[in-house]
Amino acid sequence: MPEALHPFGLVPAGTQPPRVTVSSSSFGSVKADVAVCFLFEGEKTPAANGLSAASALAKALGVVLRGEPMKGKRKELAVWPSAGRFPASRYVIAGLGRRGDLTPDRLREACGLAARRAALLRAKRLVVSMPPPGPHASAADLAHAATEGLALGSYRLTKYQTQDDGSAETLKSAELLVPRDAMKPTLSGAARGAISANATNLVRDLVNEPAMVVTPARMAEIAQKVAKESGCDIRVYERKDLERLGMRAILGVSAGSTQPPCLIHMIYKPRARSGRKALRRIALVGKGLTFDSGGLSLKTASGMETMKLDKAGATVVLAVMSVLKKLDLPLEVHGIMGMTENMPGGSALKPGDVLHTMSGRTIEVLNTDAEGRLVLADALEFAQQQKPDQIIDLATLTGACMVALGPSCSGILGTDQTLVDDLMAAAERAGEKMWQLPLYEDYRDLIRSDVADVKNSPSTRYGGAITAALFLKNFVTNGVPWVHLDIAGPAFFESEQGYMRKGATGAPVRTLIQYLESLAGPRTV
Ligand code: BES
Ligand code: ZN
Ligand code: ZN
Repeated sequence: MPEALHPFGLVPAGTQPPRVTVSSSSFGSVKADVAVCFLFEGEKTPAANGLSAASALAKALGVVLRGEPMKGKRKELAVWPSAGRFPASRYVIAGLGRRGDLTPDRLREACGLAARRAALLRAKRLVVSMPPPGPHASAADLAHAATEGLALGSYRLTKYQTQDDGSAETLKSAELLVPRDAMKPTLSGAARGAISANATNLVRDLVNEPAMVVTPARMAEIAQKVAKESGCDIRVYERKDLERLGMRAILGVSAGSTQPPCLIHMIYKPRARSGRKALRRIALVGKGLTFDSGGLSLKTASGMETMKLDKAGATVVLAVMSVLKKLDLPLEVHGIMGMTENMPGGSALKPGDVLHTMSGRTIEVLNTDAEGRLVLADALEFAQQQKPDQIIDLATLTGACMVALGPSCSGILGTDQTLVDDLMAAAERAGEKMWQLPLYEDYRDLIRSDVADVKNSPSTRYGGAITAALFLKNFVTNGVPWVHLDIAGPAFFESEQGYMRKGATGAPVRTLIQYLESLAGPRTV
């Protein structure tokens, strides 16, 4: 892509996340454009840091609430312009549901909605009076979730809108108010929350970039930059390297495109200096289709509209690699991204073609739109050769998974139930939806080929997410625990959902970060 056509910087594409700080100031005394406090369901007044029930502000908020149909339920917001009577220009009261049911995810949602509203009110400076910890939510976890919610809810993509530079609606800073004894865990939770929110917004930026900007080669350049900044080693395998390695499945998918394919391999090892030895070796493998037209099995015009999203798996891998050093995790992590376009063209893959993969196994290609599994076949073999203790792949793999689980839930399938359970527990903590689908062995009949070892397009549409995962399982052969995440739905929202705007969501980067953190052992704060 000639640079002149795209005079925009590559990253970041969206708004910068607000800078989050922590203090023990009293809610009634801090200046801000918007001051947020929370109301639990069934309670009459919002609790706020250092605010006595007898204070003028507490009374004023009580009067506001009496005039509102608000019950403290989740997703409710009341906005009150204080007209200069109190230090903040506006007060926002956000519902949190029942006090005893408070989870970090509820607070993430409430903060996300408050941040969205604050951005629309053109607020630059926000303060948030943190709710007290409860049986399901520690102070650190609440701060983590609040920080994420604030960054995710205020995200906007303005880069390509020439009439709007976004500055008018950018939330610059947010201050979390807590009692003095909660400062330490709140600071550490907020710091970790900022790392995970930034990683999420990096994925959103990259996935939201059009295919004409983020090509496989551009993705490799970005990965080089990220590797440098985050202490990772990196090697980019280009076309000639893929040929030498026998990765004819990736090469086949790229055959109709003028953009050269590549496989990106990033490696993070804990620094010897910090005395940390790697507890495990993890391989993360991402599908990186910078555009999926379907190839000769061409998609419909509307089916193609969002297909810049098909690189989401690879960008999630990249974003996870970018945080490992900051989190100082004692894990060796390999990030493997199979990057290509899927285009029709004179030399494109044709239905009926047979591909020899790096593993030696052959694939009959009956539908060139089932290209993700072809790319992953080679990428999974490459991953296995790194001798990891576990492999997790991420791919916007099937429309069938969206039919099964709806638009915001990842499908999870794998050969190791402990790994599946651990990832689902991490998803729960991260506030991301993930549901297990079965890997029924007898469904293998549906992908049996008459001419090769396996065919890429099953005999029926039914159970498409399962047959896709069974296909991948053919390429994980040495007994290493393996899990596949089908993120076709949650990676990209076609309409706004809660505090998440239309477009890329960053899912499931928060789950993976939570999971890797959990492998490192319990936190002290
Ligand atoms: N990238 C698509 C899957 C997809 C569809 C992701 C919609 C996000 C939203 C994938 O490459 C694909 O086209 N899969 C086919 C497989 C079929 C031909 C066996 C599908 O799901 O229809
Ligand atoms: Zn496809
Ligand atoms: Zn695809």
